Amino acid sequence: MTRSSRARSPSMTQPSPDAVELRGITKRFPGVLANSDVSLSVRAGEIHALMGENGAGKSTLMSILYGLHQPDAGTIALHGREVSFTSPAQAISTGVGMVHQDFALFPQLTVTENVIFGREPIRRGFLSRKAARAAVASLIDKHELRLRPDTRIADLPVGLRQQVEILKLLYREASILILDEPTAVLTPAETSRLFGVLRDLAAAGKTVLFVSHKLQEVLEVSDNVTVLRDGEVTARGATSSFTGPALASAMTGRAVDLDRTYPAGSPGKVVLEIPGLTVYAGEIVGIAGNGQAELVESITTGVHDEVAHVPESRSEVGSAPHAPLAANLAVGFQRRLANKGFLRPSAIREHAGKIIARFDVRGTGSTMDTLSGGNQQKAILGRELTHGAPLLVVEQPTRGVDVGAIENIHAQLIAYRDAGHGVLLVSAELSEILALSDRILVMYGGRFVAEFDRENADPGQIGLAMAGGAR
Ligand SMILES: Nc1ncnc2c1ncn2[C@@H]1O[C@H](COP(=O)(O)OP(=O)(O)OP(=O)(O)O)[C@@H](O)[C@H]1O
Ligand SMILES: [Mg+2]
Repeated sequence: MTRSSRARSPSMTQPSPDAVELRGITKRFPGVLANSDVSLSVRAGEIHALMGENGAGKSTLMSILYGLHQPDAGTIALHGREVSFTSPAQAISTGVGMVHQDFALFPQLTVTENVIFGREPIRRGFLSRKAARAAVASLIDKHELRLRPDTRIADLPVGLRQQVEILKLLYREASILILDEPTAVLTPAETSRLFGVLRDLAAAGKTVLFVSHKLQEVLEVSDNVTVLRDGEVTARGATSSFTGPALASAMTGRAVDLDRTYPAGSPGKVVLEIPGLTVYAGEIVGIAGNGQAELVESITTGVHDEVAHVPESRSEVGSAPHAPLAANLAVGFQRRLANKGFLRPSAIREHAGKIIARFDVRGTGSTMDTLSGGNQQKAILGRELTHGAPLLVVEQPTRGVDVGAIENIHAQLIAYRDAGHGVLLVSAELSEILALSDRILVMYGGRFVAEFDRENADPGQIGLAMAGGAR
């Protein structure tokens, strides 16, 4: 039976309309066709993955569904009714919620205050703190989140901040939840907990749009998948009908080697020596486990010329979002780009141009925040590698970066090592640590509990040490 004949003769057996139906969405930004005639259908109770390279147009499409952008062409229907949002507030009141790639929480406020912000429960004309706290506590319980209502956001690790964002949507009774790269900031354990939450939500009839680069995660958690490349749909279908390599090539338009390994480095002189940890020039030392934040802070605080640093949270400490890309790329190079105390615009442009070309930073936007998330990451990494400091401390270098760009970034890190620099690599991706590291140190509870050479680095053993079962 065709769709139109169904519409003419409604019956009890007729399936309900899709929860989300985007048709022919086109969106242009100056110089970029971000979405080109994109259609996407998602049933209620479905987890639908949206994949694509950095800059493919995923966030743009989801922002249109969320009312942040208006499409130049195309229509949106929710549960069979056409809608046209001119603001996120309208989307939210229609049951659409979105967690963005970069969080939007108030660090000085508590979990409860963040969750209820803009929708405070009122009793007799006053904000009822008790009612707010109770509502938030019961949602935390119901969805088995690892949060407490009274914790300040500033005191939460990035992984738990994301749970607060999800809690915000649940508090607003969203029935369509958009998560833009939700696992980029999570540890493997937090990711599986999130997947449990998403499955429960889908089983309860909610619709989940899951934006991700990670092939394994898409294969594991989604029912259906849509792949974008350069703003166009290049593949769609039941997730079970795809393999990882098939998704990777739909994303990139070429075959991608997912399990590349690199030759070992040749260690030279010491570039970092602190209790429990020595890093030599010409080697990559990978840090697995948890509790690295203090380690990194102690290494990077106050030593700017000897240490280049790519931080975990690029939006917080890595960049100035509203400043031009070229200005962001000039940070730390002021002396080299100045003449008689004045920065030379031509030198800034030339310097930026080199980094953009070498690291394949894509996007024509004038300011940093108009770049797609992955391209911001490539830009910051490019800037820090270009410093040429003896030691590079790099946290989550490929977070939010697509498979094609991961290849590029890994090759750049290896090249940096081979040029005689030391690299301290902190990553939640064990596969990334295994692929790149000459030595691997495992932290547990803020201490080093195990060390592995490249030759005897066994994922099972490392996993055991990460879980606290030290040798
Ligand atoms: N506000 C904006 N102004 C100008 N260009 C923009 C704006 N927002 C997005 N773009 C451009 O539109 C294209 C699609 O970007 P989008 O953020 O949707 O990509 P994405 O698939 O989410 O990428 P990523 O995986 O890196 O997050 C990119 O070329 C980006 O630079
Ligand atoms: Mg994006």
